[in-house]
Amino acid sequence: MRNSNSNVKMLVVAALLSLLIGGAVPSARAAEGPQPPVTLRCEYLHNPVGIDVRQPRFAWVLHHTERAQVQSAYQVLVATTPELLAQNKGDAWDSGKTASDDSTQVVYNGKPLESDHSYWWKVRYWDKGGNASEYSHPASFDVGLLSVDDWKGQWIGGANQVRQEFTLAEAPRRARAYITGLGYYELHINGKKIGMNYLDPGWTTWDKRVLYTTYDVTSNLHSGANAVGVMLGQGWFKSRVMLLQLDIELAGGKHVSVTSGPAWKAKNGPIVSDSIYDGEVYDARLETPGWDLPGYKDDGWKPAESVKGPGGVLSAQMMPPIQDVDSMVPIALTNPRPGVYVYDMGQNFSGWVDLHVNGPRGAQVQLRFSELLYDTGMINRENLRGAKARDIYILRGDGEEHYHPRFTYHGFRYVEVTGYPGTPSLDSLRGHVVHTAVKTTGSFVASNPLLNQIHKIIRWSDLTNLHSVPTDCDQRDERQGWMGDAQVSSEGVMLNFDMAAFYTNFLRDMRDDLGADGTMTDTIPYLTHGRRPGDPAWGTAFPLICWYLFQQTGDRRLLEENYNGVRKYVEYLRSRAPDNVLRFSYYGDWVATELTPGAEVSDFYYYYDTLVLSKMAAALGNSPDAASYAELAGQIKDAFNKEFYDPKTGNYTTGTQTANVLPLFLNMVPAEDRGKVAGNLDNNILYLHNTHLTTGLAGLRYLMPVLTQIGRSDLAYDLATQTTYPSWGHMLANGATTVWELWQKKVGPAMNSQNHHMMGSVDAWFYEGLGGINVDLEHPGYHHIRIEPQVTRDLTSVSATVGSVRGNVTSSWSHEPGIITLQVDVPVNAAASVSVPKADEMTDITIHEGDRTVWENGHFIDGTPGVTAGKLDGKRVVFEVGSGMYNFRVTGE
Ligand code: BGC
Repeated sequence: MRNSNSNVKMLVVAALLSLLIGGAVPSARAAEGPQPPVTLRCEYLHNPVGIDVRQPRFAWVLHHTERAQVQSAYQVLVATTPELLAQNKGDAWDSGKTASDDSTQVVYNGKPLESDHSYWWKVRYWDKGGNASEYSHPASFDVGLLSVDDWKGQWIGGANQVRQEFTLAEAPRRARAYITGLGYYELHINGKKIGMNYLDPGWTTWDKRVLYTTYDVTSNLHSGANAVGVMLGQGWFKSRVMLLQLDIELAGGKHVSVTSGPAWKAKNGPIVSDSIYDGEVYDARLETPGWDLPGYKDDGWKPAESVKGPGGVLSAQMMPPIQDVDSMVPIALTNPRPGVYVYDMGQNFSGWVDLHVNGPRGAQVQLRFSELLYDTGMINRENLRGAKARDIYILRGDGEEHYHPRFTYHGFRYVEVTGYPGTPSLDSLRGHVVHTAVKTTGSFVASNPLLNQIHKIIRWSDLTNLHSVPTDCDQRDERQGWMGDAQVSSEGVMLNFDMAAFYTNFLRDMRDDLGADGTMTDTIPYLTHGRRPGDPAWGTAFPLICWYLFQQTGDRRLLEENYNGVRKYVEYLRSRAPDNVLRFSYYGDWVATELTPGAEVSDFYYYYDTLVLSKMAAALGNSPDAASYAELAGQIKDAFNKEFYDPKTGNYTTGTQTANVLPLFLNMVPAEDRGKVAGNLDNNILYLHNTHLTTGLAGLRYLMPVLTQIGRSDLAYDLATQTTYPSWGHMLANGATTVWELWQKKVGPAMNSQNHHMMGSVDAWFYEGLGGINVDLEHPGYHHIRIEPQVTRDLTSVSATVGSVRGNVTSSWSHEPGIITLQVDVPVNAAASVSVPKADEMTDITIHEGDRTVWENGHFIDGTPGVTAGKLDGKRVVFEVGSGMYNFRVTGE
């Protein structure tokens, strides 16, 4: 234990050091004072190519060699050439020295941005003493097509390969490809696939919106003959159409456009069939070598067909794309029957495999995917329901061949290979992990390995279900943007990954599908699954994800864009609750082990949504709405208690964990009865269920936070580390590498995905509870942070980092008998209340920060740089600190 504890500490120290060093990279000099800003982002993206926002927002991260530093002013320069920017000339926008501590969501306020143009920008800042940093390294952004009139091409289809050749009089100086292809496309120019995206564009409700992607193709084109080819897959759209525009500026300054239209040629290629659920059939004998090169003889090709577009507005895809983010080497290969080979990838994930094969022309290799195995070693695909989940590759027969599919993906751990010519080896397959390529920004490590394993399987489930929208699962005939799942996981996902652009997009999808009558749907995009109106515990994803993202980012525009929609949604709920109780429900506390009436769950969310709406109104300065919705929330709360609470027993409805957790979480319980209800919850967990949880999707989200609120983080920890059914430890003990859909171990032909993220919502508590990193709800965007770690039971250390919009926030503690240490990192332009815990065994405590004493004999001792105040709060001492790194050490008798 000692050993692993000190290992964790070493890791933490190394991580903190690398943060320090890494933070100062842009300038070679090791100057004192304000460092040049880093991590420049535009609309939450790094150097985005193709945004369609007329007034984009900028953000940067600050470092300073002193503690308690803030930005007193900034200057942003935006230029139309990198040369002008290098001369400090912001010909598009020079903000001048602007007194402000905004280092995120700084709105572009220069000359109108033009379609199909590139811009370069940089920023410097002044600290609180008025010292200026140097300018940051330059960053860039490209504006895509801002208006529908900028699009000159036509939608075409007719086959799954289309092509066109064109001649350029000169080499290009700048060229951009604007493309969307539904369901999916793969763009080739002059013999090469363009970009790293797969399964592009992101999924939307097509008649409302279609996303297009912009690629910088300057270096792919040349003077003389060029060729462009596009492969098309049917994806969710179930048809194959596309729209493309190449906008090219030639060396001499002339502009030419190449656009899709009936002059293009079309012919079906090697992809014989493609389907998200069923997989791909690829006949390599049907390949058309050279089809994407100039000079190809396309005599056998027919003219492409002009087709009607899907109808939705064309919007730039402003979120990380789906990419092949990692490769996996199989850990085992078995041969359970003659000719049948089964690979174990060692991990459940979304994506595909790359097949390496050498054999006769026409040989057919079949790959079938599964999450489970039978005892016989054969793959068990019963839980895939209708999804065929198989790829078939038919060989050319000309030597080494490599194949992976393009227009499908599978959720799997095992791959069955049949029809392989010869004997396959471990090297015949590589796994490829494919999902929305969001950056990891958070980390969580605890001294208890079980917690780390739980965190790991949650991360896998969260990530592999990000497929341009948060899907429920990645393997069976579903993979939908179920909103209930999305809302419970979203906060944990935001703490782990850079999600702002992704959820901004997802919220726009929700607005697109919001009914004229204010109804929300169970799934987004809303095409085939779920209902309208959606279950209130699903529809709540609209207000709640918006609110969580606002808490994480402080993004006002997000509130402005979503406010009317959320208001409409709440008004719809109100129309269904004439006596202030919302009763309709379909799924309620989905897949719980003990039932809570759906009406209670729905009504809880009606209250939550109304409360959030009133807070959104307040944040936007709309005081009449803030007041009227706060009043409505009060009425809903009263009606909720009347309808569902029994003051005699101190229980809500059925007295299940969920039934009592929901009202406790939002402080709905009459103040005088809170202790009684909390006691019932405690009792239910400890005695009725022998320290096991019974919650479904809804109750689980709030269970640990409520236990922490009522001073029982020890019990929350016991539940989190439980190893018997129902628990995550039980899943792990049964081989889970991702989080199951059900608490029960089920492997039959029903609803039992092995990779569902909804029960991973506990991860938020790992960061916020155990790690103790919390947004101060009064100061969103980590402007003010509450660090309040839970030191409990046999945990000897926890280290958590959140990559906030202002930079990394770290809380890292250790507990040995008689000593607690807490290291905290607060970014520049932020401040924190650091709640330093004392252990139960400590009475007379002394607290040091570094080599100074900050607390002794029950009093705060002033004079430590950055630490401005300290006061006792029950079992903790709360210090107010500015930015910087702090090392608190609590000792006591
Ligand atoms: C999905 C869930 C979803 C539910 C709605 C299931 O089939 O996989 O996760 O929220 O349906 O009840």
